[in-house]
Amino acid sequence: MKKILIINGPNLNMLGLREPEIYGTDTLEDIRVWTDSKINSLAQTTWFQSNVEGEIVSRIQMASKEQFDAVVINPGGYAHTSVAIHDALKILKIPVIEVHLSQVYKREEFRHTLLTAKAASAIMSGLGKQSYYRAIQSLLD
Ligand code: DQA
Repeated sequence: MKKILIINGPNLNMLGLREPEIYGTDTLEDIRVWTDSKINSLAQTTWFQSNVEGEIVSRIQMASKEQFDAVVINPGGYAHTSVAIHDALKILKIPVIEVHLSQVYKREEFRHTLLTAKAASAIMSGLGKQSYYRAIQSLLD
């Protein structure tokens, strides 16, 4: 069975409360449960969330020594700024898909720069909670 690490960045722990008109009313835990039920034991997922850039870098570094088959990452706001997360993703020798719940290109201009995505094989943006499921599904296919 494929092992997939799913990393979530800052403020994604506030889903449900945070700008529901943009992100919907599901919490990150709701999204985890929904995604895992859709994946239906075709993959073993490990979910990680942190508001701290260095902790995300360290989790990615650890993943490079673990037996994951792929990483799905929603870096949150760090997607637009973090050279450190970008560089950590470049260390990985497995596929990385970056996901965003919202369609970032329809939003403020500062969200149009996707720095970490330059280290990803694919990006998905604007599919809401489906982004995670679709990313995992495409990795399995
Ligand atoms: C987000 C988009 C980012 O611009 C924002 O900072 C987030 C969430 C998304 O999932 O749509 O925190 O990554």
